[in-house]
Amino acid sequence: MEIDYLANHQDTVGLIAGWFYEEWSYLYPHRTRGDFENLVSERSRKDKLPLALVAAESGTIIGTISLKAQEVSKRFDYIPWVAGLYVVKEMRGRGVGKKLVEALECRAREMGIQKLFLYTPRSERFYSRLGWSIIGHTSYRGTPVSLMEKDLKRRS
Ligand SMILES: CC(C)(COP(=O)(O)OP(=O)(O)OC[C@H]1O[C@@H](n2cnc3c(N)ncnc32)[C@H](O)[C@@H]1OP(=O)(O)O)[C@@H](O)C(=O)NCCC(=O)NCCS
Repeated sequence: MEIDYLANHQDTVGLIAGWFYEEWSYLYPHRTRGDFENLVSERSRKDKLPLALVAAESGTIIGTISLKAQEVSKRFDYIPWVAGLYVVKEMRGRGVGKKLVEALECRAREMGIQKLFLYTPRSERFYSRLGWSIIGHTSYRGTPVSLMEKDLKRRS
């Protein structure tokens, strides 16, 4: 499996937007599939946020993760954010998600970022096993979420 920039696989923007639409459109009822496609497309960068990484197995994209400067709602002051972590159902439980998180942390370190944040409705255990800590609880678009952070200066 290899991890690469979405910028090098722009033909997969529509596929990834479809995953996001299926998984998260309940949070954004007014957002169309085209809106998701535009949001994913904006992440086709390498040196500036927002950027996304993809995981590929034998040339097929099987997962993705994003690093964003600011969360859409601008409700939270914590930046930058890890978002849009997704692994296709048939490849889950094989370490792809873990590798995507670790690769993004590595890229963030290279960019001089010292701390990362995220919010999650139900994947706290997944992230805490990767060295993330819960720093609070809130609600995002009506869904209870945990806020988590990772200090990149400390190697886990
Ligand atoms: C969450 C998700 C990205 C995990 O991807 P994955 O490739 O299956 O995860 P991995 O195989 O790398 O798992 C790494 C470890 O976390 C564990 N784990 C995976 N998902 C977990 C979960 N939801 N809760 C607790 N532990 C989890 C695995 O058992 C594994 O443990 P191990 O290292 O002891 O074997 C994937 O289930 C997914 O895409 N879900 C839908 C989208 C989503 O919920 N994204 C996160 C939103 S914040």
